Amino acid sequence: MCGIFAYLNYCVPRTRKEIFELLVKGLMRLEYRGYDSAGVAVDSDKNIDNKQNIVLIKKKGKVKALDEELYKKDCMNLEAELSTHFGIAHTRWATHGEPNAVNSHPQRSDKNNEFVVVHNGIITNYKELKKYLNTKGYEFESETDTEVIPKLIKYVYDNREREDLSFSTLVERVITQLEGAFALVFKSCHFPGEAVATRRGSPLLIGVRSKHELSAEHIPIQYNSARINEAVHEKNSHNRPEDISTAVNFTGEGNGIEYYFASDASAIIEHTNKVIYLEDNDIAGVVNGKLSIHRLKHQAGEDPVRAIQTLQMELQEIMKGNFKAFMQKEIFEQPESVFNTMRGRICFDTNKVVLGGLKDHLKEIKRCRRLIVIGCGTSFHAAVATRQILEELTELPVMVELASDFLDRYTPVFRDDVCFFISQSGETADTLMALRYCKERGALTVGVTNTVGSSISRETDCGVHINAGPEIGVASTKAYTSQFVSLVMFGLLISEDRISLQGRRLEIINGLRTLPDMIKKVLAQDENIKSIADELFEQKSLLVMGRGYNYATCLEGALKIKEITYMHSEGILAGELKHGPLALIDKDMPVIMIIMKDACYTKCQNALQQVTARSGRPIILCCKDDPELSKNAYKTIELPQTVDCLQGILSVIPLQLMSFHLAVLRGFDVDCPRNLAKSVTVE
Ligand code: F6R
Repeated sequence: MCGIFAYLNYCVPRTRKEIFELLVKGLMRLEYRGYDSAGVAVDSDKNIDNKQNIVLIKKKGKVKALDEELYKKDCMNLEAELSTHFGIAHTRWATHGEPNAVNSHPQRSDKNNEFVVVHNGIITNYKELKKYLNTKGYEFESETDTEVIPKLIKYVYDNREREDLSFSTLVERVITQLEGAFALVFKSCHFPGEAVATRRGSPLLIGVRSKHELSAEHIPIQYNSARINEAVHEKNSHNRPEDISTAVNFTGEGNGIEYYFASDASAIIEHTNKVIYLEDNDIAGVVNGKLSIHRLKHQAGEDPVRAIQTLQMELQEIMKGNFKAFMQKEIFEQPESVFNTMRGRICFDTNKVVLGGLKDHLKEIKRCRRLIVIGCGTSFHAAVATRQILEELTELPVMVELASDFLDRYTPVFRDDVCFFISQSGETADTLMALRYCKERGALTVGVTNTVGSSISRETDCGVHINAGPEIGVASTKAYTSQFVSLVMFGLLISEDRISLQGRRLEIINGLRTLPDMIKKVLAQDENIKSIADELFEQKSLLVMGRGYNYATCLEGALKIKEITYMHSEGILAGELKHGPLALIDKDMPVIMIIMKDACYTKCQNALQQVTARSGRPIILCCKDDPELSKNAYKTIELPQTVDCLQGILSVIPLQLMSFHLAVLRGFDVDCPRNLAKSVTVE
C-alpha cells in the first residue's frame, strides 16, 4: 500500500544534498505502491548548543512535490558532509485519514521528533492503544493508525526507569503490543546513526553495500536465552514467558558500509544487488555500522539463517526507456515476457513441460480431488481465463475464486484440495489471508507470483515463478499474460501421461511456440487501435462483450479501462446479453465485441445480430480474414488466430492498448491511477 525507503551511511561521507537525492530516488521507484503524500526524516545541522534534531519534511501529493519542498528548509546546509547518517522516507496511499502532510509519514512521537517511524500496513488495535496512551497524557495530531507506534516507543523509553534499553529492545517491546500488519523503520535522536527495522505481514528488505568484501553468504542466527520479561502494558501483557529473543551478528566489516531499507528491490537495485529479506517478527538493528537481526519469537523448525541474496534484476529492467509510461512499455514487452515465462520449461521436441518449483509435490497434486484458483483483480481474471483448459487437461473440478469473497464465505476446503494463489506482487493481503486459511485446513498450496521472496512465494508449499520481469505500472498487463501461460503450462504438465489428451497437448504446445511472434503481430495494430481510441475517448461508457475462452478478456479489458481512464466499463458475458445488458444498447453506446473462430463463434454472431438490430455500432475484435464479421462492424481489429485456449492472450492486448490510449487522450497519468496502488497489502 505504501512504500518505505531508508538509507544509512556509516563512515561513508555523503553531502546532505546527496542523501536527499538518494531518498527521493528511492521513493520515486516505490511510487507505484502509493502516491498521495510523501515525507522524509533526516538530521538537522548541529545548532549553537551542539544539538542535532530530527527534521521532518512532508508534503501532500506525489514525490516530486516533496522533492521541491526539501530544498526550502534553511536549517539545513545542503553541502554539509555527513559521514554517518540515517534518513527515512515514505510514500503513502491513505488508509486511515485523508491524504495531507500531517497524516503522511514519518509519524512522530512528539513535537521534538524524538522517535519517528515509517510504516506500511495497518494496525488493527490502534484504537485501544491510542486510548491507553491518551490516559498517559500523550496527545495525537494525525488521524492515522500509525501514530500510536512512535508514541508507544516514546512511552516505553520514558518509562524505562534504570534499565539500559537498546533501540532494538525498545522496538521489540513496541511490536509485541501491535496487531495487524506492518513493515516499520524507526529513527531516533536518542540513538543517532542507528536504525531499527521490523516486519510482520508486510514486506521489507535490506540492501547492503560495503567497500569491503561481504564475508557472510548466510547470517547464522545465534540463539540466546534472553527472555523478554517487561511488558509495555503493565499487567495487560501480550508477551509470553516462553518468548525467546534470538540474536545474530552480521560479520561484514562495519566501517564504510551502507544499508538501504525498502519495501521492494526496485528501490535498491541501482545501489546494490546484495539483499537480505526480513521474515515476520525479525528485528534488524544497525549499531556502529553493524547489522544484527534477532527474532521476537523462536518457533520450532524455523530457518536458522538469513541469506544475503544476490539479485539478478537489472536496473534497466525497471526503467521506462523510450516509452511514455511503464504500462505502455510493459504492454510492448509481452513477446519477451511470455517467452521468459516458458524459457527452459517447455521442451518443444519431446512435448514435455518441467516446472521445477512443483516437482517435489507432483504426485500429491495428481492425486487431488479439486483445484481452487484464487486471486484478486487481474490475477483473478487469469484464473477465469484458464479455468476451461485446466478442467479439460486435468479432468478435475476447478473453482476460481476472488480471495475476498472466498474468505467471506468461509469456503469449505479439504486436505485433498490443491489451492493456487495467483499474485503479481505476491503481497496482496486478501490473497495472503486466503493462503493461510487454506494452509490451516491442510490443503496443498501453490503460489504463482512474479516476485521472488514475496510473502506468497515463501508461504506456499510450492510454486511457479512467472518470470515476467518487474511490473511497475499500477495497471497489470504483462503479469496477466504470463500468469495465463503459467497456468496453461501447469495443465500441460499434469496431462503428460493422458494418452487421450496428447493431440490436444501438442496443439497447445505448438500454439505456445508461436505465441511471442503472434503477440508482435497484435502489437503492430497499435496505430489502428489508437485511431479508434481517438473516436471513443470522450464517451462516458464502454462495454466489452464476449464468451467462452474470451470472457476473461472482457473482464480484464473492462478493468483496464475503468482503472486508468475512469470511464465506466463493463465486461459482459455475451450469453447473458438478453438477460439484461441488451437494454443498454443503442446507437450511442460503444460496444467492443470479441468474436473469435472457436466453439462459441455462432453464438457470438447471434449476440452481434442482437446488437446491430438495436442500432448498436460494434467494434469487433475478430480473427484475420473474417469478411462476414467485418461487414457488420463499425470498426474491426483483426488478430492472428491461435489455439482456442490461448486466443485470450492475444485478444487482451488490443484492450490493454486501447485503455492506454484512452487514458492519455483523457489527460490522465497512466502509471498512477487515482486511488489505486500497485501492491494492496491491506484487506
Ligand atoms: C489491475 C491490477 C489489480 C491487481 C490486484 C492483485 O490492473 O493490477 O487488480 O491485479 O490488486 O494484485 P496482485 O496480482 O499483485 O496480487
